[in-house]
Amino acid sequence: MQVLSIVGARPQFVKLAPVAEALTAGGHEHVIVHTGQHYDADMSDVFFADLRIPAPDVHLGIGSGSHGTQTGTMLAALDSVLADRRPDWVLVYGDTNSTLAGTLAAVKLHLPVAHLEAGLRSFNRAMPEEHNRVLTDHAADLLLAPTDVAVTNLAREGLAERTVRVGDVMTDVCFRVRDAVRDTAPELPAGFEPGGYVAATIHRAENTDDPKRLTAVVDALAGLPVPVLLLAHPRLVVRCREFGIALERPGSALHTASPLPYPGMVAAVLHSAGVVTDSGGLQKEAYLLGRPCSTLRTETEWLETLHDDWNVLVPEPADLADAVTRPVPSAPQGTPYGDGHAAGQVVDALVRGGPA
Ligand code: UD1
Repeated sequence: MQVLSIVGARPQFVKLAPVAEALTAGGHEHVIVHTGQHYDADMSDVFFADLRIPAPDVHLGIGSGSHGTQTGTMLAALDSVLADRRPDWVLVYGDTNSTLAGTLAAVKLHLPVAHLEAGLRSFNRAMPEEHNRVLTDHAADLLLAPTDVAVTNLAREGLAERTVRVGDVMTDVCFRVRDAVRDTAPELPAGFEPGGYVAATIHRAENTDDPKRLTAVVDALAGLPVPVLLLAHPRLVVRCREFGIALERPGSALHTASPLPYPGMVAAVLHSAGVVTDSGGLQKEAYLLGRPCSTLRTETEWLETLHDDWNVLVPEPADLADAVTRPVPSAPQGTPYGDGHAAGQVVDALVRGGPA
């Protein structure tokens, strides 16, 4: 079997790692196409190196642009790549513009498409990611769902026949890396103590693209009663510069640093008191690593994380301090994301060509 994976953004490299390993272990041919959506070394190359992902076979080098331009340019560039290779499966990941472009390029060429992390829904139609996922799920031939909630969402949209619950491949990577870094202290800024700080990331358009909202978010982080290690996504840095919002605030709780490689991020969360984020992946990683999470959004796709307040939604930045200082949940997290062996199930589903 030949599988062609299309990836482009940071969370997709994390999902690709265990899938690439399982495909190779199964003796399958695997072609990796990188769209170039994320191009900074610390958003891309470092993930391939640390997670031991083979270098991309094809790099499209598309880079940033408006949603339409970025998606359309990828679509055009993928045409000849897919037509040349004609894989048994085109595998797309998550909810980014690379996911949608890969799906459209494949279906136009009548190539079978499998969507990894199918069925996630925020039901927030203002999010570009929500459109990317819904359109991808309805176009794809095989829907690889991570959770029961995702399976239910797909069934409600009439897609049950194409759905297989495979579990969550990010859990595979998270557990493996957790075990490797557990005894390694994270590199922390001066004045930060293990267990005494919050790890934070912000990148979603809803939080970054409106100056009033972004000011409130950064002010709330800077005003927290615990030190905050903000690992700044390029979109956040660009918008703060555009709007004149300072990310360096001496004397405040806020310490801003560059994005971390994956093992460094896992270590930073593992040794933190908690997480503040608007990232989907990081909400789940906090949950898997047993750290309380406060999510600066009105909804989440990972409903399981909300149980027992392991994760709480904080729509208003002004409420962040109360959320961050809530008591640590006493109930164990449960295992809705599986035991870290989802990638093997992905490969089995691809080999079978559908549900068992
Ligand atoms: C994208 C995904 C989002 C995912 C996120 C993970 C879409 C619509 N959004 O958001 O679902 O959660 O990736 O990070 O696909 N930039 C750089 N260097 C880079 C990459 C981006 O400087 O390596 C800057 C550029 O100014 C760019 C901006 O970040 O315009 C946003 O990048 P983009 O790819 O449009 O989306 P993300 O916000 O990263």
